[in-house]
Amino acid sequence: MTDRDPNRVIIFDTTLRDGEQSPGCSMTPDEKLRVARALADLGVDVIEAGFPAASRGDWESVNAIARQVRGPIVCGLARCNRDDIEKAWTAVRDAARPRIHVFLATSAIHREHKLNMAKEEIIRTAAEGVGLARSLCKDVEFSPEDASRTELDFLTEVVQAAVDAGATTINVPDTVGYTTPQEFHETFAHLRRHVRGANRVTFSVHCHDDLGMAVANSLSAVLGGARQIECTINGIGERAGNCSLEEVVMAMRTREPVFGVRTGIHTERLYPTCRLVSSITGMPIPRNKAVIGENAFAHESGIHQHGMLRHASTYEIMRPRDVGLSRTNLVLGKHSGRHAFRERVKELGFELEEAELNRVFERFKSLADRKKELFDGDIEALVLNLDTESGGPWFLEVLDAVSRTGASSSALVRLRHADGGSLERRCTGDGPVDAAFKAIEELTGTPVVLRKFEVRSVSRGEDAQGEALVTVEYNGRLHRGSSVTTDIVESGVRAFLEVINRIELGRQSGRAGSEGRSEARVAQAAV
Ligand code: KIV
Ligand code: ZN
Repeated sequence: MTDRDPNRVIIFDTTLRDGEQSPGCSMTPDEKLRVARALADLGVDVIEAGFPAASRGDWESVNAIARQVRGPIVCGLARCNRDDIEKAWTAVRDAARPRIHVFLATSAIHREHKLNMAKEEIIRTAAEGVGLARSLCKDVEFSPEDASRTELDFLTEVVQAAVDAGATTINVPDTVGYTTPQEFHETFAHLRRHVRGANRVTFSVHCHDDLGMAVANSLSAVLGGARQIECTINGIGERAGNCSLEEVVMAMRTREPVFGVRTGIHTERLYPTCRLVSSITGMPIPRNKAVIGENAFAHESGIHQHGMLRHASTYEIMRPRDVGLSRTNLVLGKHSGRHAFRERVKELGFELEEAELNRVFERFKSLADRKKELFDGDIEALVLNLDTESGGPWFLEVLDAVSRTGASSSALVRLRHADGGSLERRCTGDGPVDAAFKAIEELTGTPVVLRKFEVRSVSRGEDAQGEALVTVEYNGRLHRGSSVTTDIVESGVRAFLEVINRIELGRQSGRAGSEGRSEARVAQAAV
């Protein structure tokens, strides 16, 4: 180990790189910045901000985070070649504490089928890549990709070469989620025993969840001596995802005597951060998700409720407030004042600037005119959707939708364009939402393929707000939009219009929708 506290585990968050790489999770540069700020508030030690060589946009996002987010180390990923490493360096060098993360696959399967490289070449390339990165940056992480399926002796040789070349962190990835807790424990113990200079570097673990063991494997690596865990908010990531930050952190905290380690995470910020990432990526948090799911602290059976009434510890191993679930379901309404509203927003874990608070409060008042009672879920939705309100160029003026059983439904839509002038169209369809979407496509001249349409309630009661999430395909790219109102047809239509606006803005700037929540599939396929 280095001279830092031997019982302190570094939390390396890769939501913006490995998480963002997963299908349907891409984020705009602004959204990435928002998430990075939330991660800094959460207390993560390292933010892997992206893969700068993947595209110009990725480089810019990483650079913006390096310049604007203070606190955590800001890291950029690079393959083991000069161009990637130099791009990663120029993207992160403005950070107060920059890091370059270099990776190269080492398993026989990858050597033969992906890289077509012999073992000696892998060792040489890894050493050269780390050496180059070290000549630019004093903090360099090396990852032997697919380490868990690499021959242990060869893995040890590669790690030795990386340590000799100056790597300061050695990350051991279970790239395909294949290892088991016992096996990974032995891998870490072996590397720490056999690599010369192992006590000078930090060992790190990076697990995927293909067999549902990412958290268990990461914890086992900690018992084997790893002192950095790579993880993502809500466990988002390639395929089945990565090790979930909130789960692994709360496991170490709740079972402190077992693991004997601590992190710098402000756990009461977990829930707001998870909710933010869920709202931005459009990936809902499953109700039964460990630690932050809606049911994680719900007790249904009579026996459990009885026990809970006697003493919460009968059926709860963590306190809801420890993970930021301070939800009281205290009802606010149209007579609630600014002060009460501000306090509630704060208790829910959101830090808003004065101007933002004013905007949310205005929306709160207008919602309170339509809805009798406002619950925590409503307030969260108002805050989280603050930035998704469509900025045009198309604005919804009129929506008149009719649903009919046994006959086609219809919708009249009137849109106003920012350049002036309104257009109106009535269409029929398979339901009022379908009819309204058709009308919008025709009015805006933007034909898209609807890939996903989801609606969920964000709070309780007959007048609960409905959050609509829409994903469409246009010119081979996926684009997402979301909206929350008390009318689910209107929510769907506003979410759809948000997507159309993003596409139109992208067309105007000649980037065919590269702005907005769109997936640049080619760039993502590069890793
Ligand atoms: O899963 C993996 O191997 C990775 C590396 C790039 C660290 O994400
Ligand atoms: Zn990964």
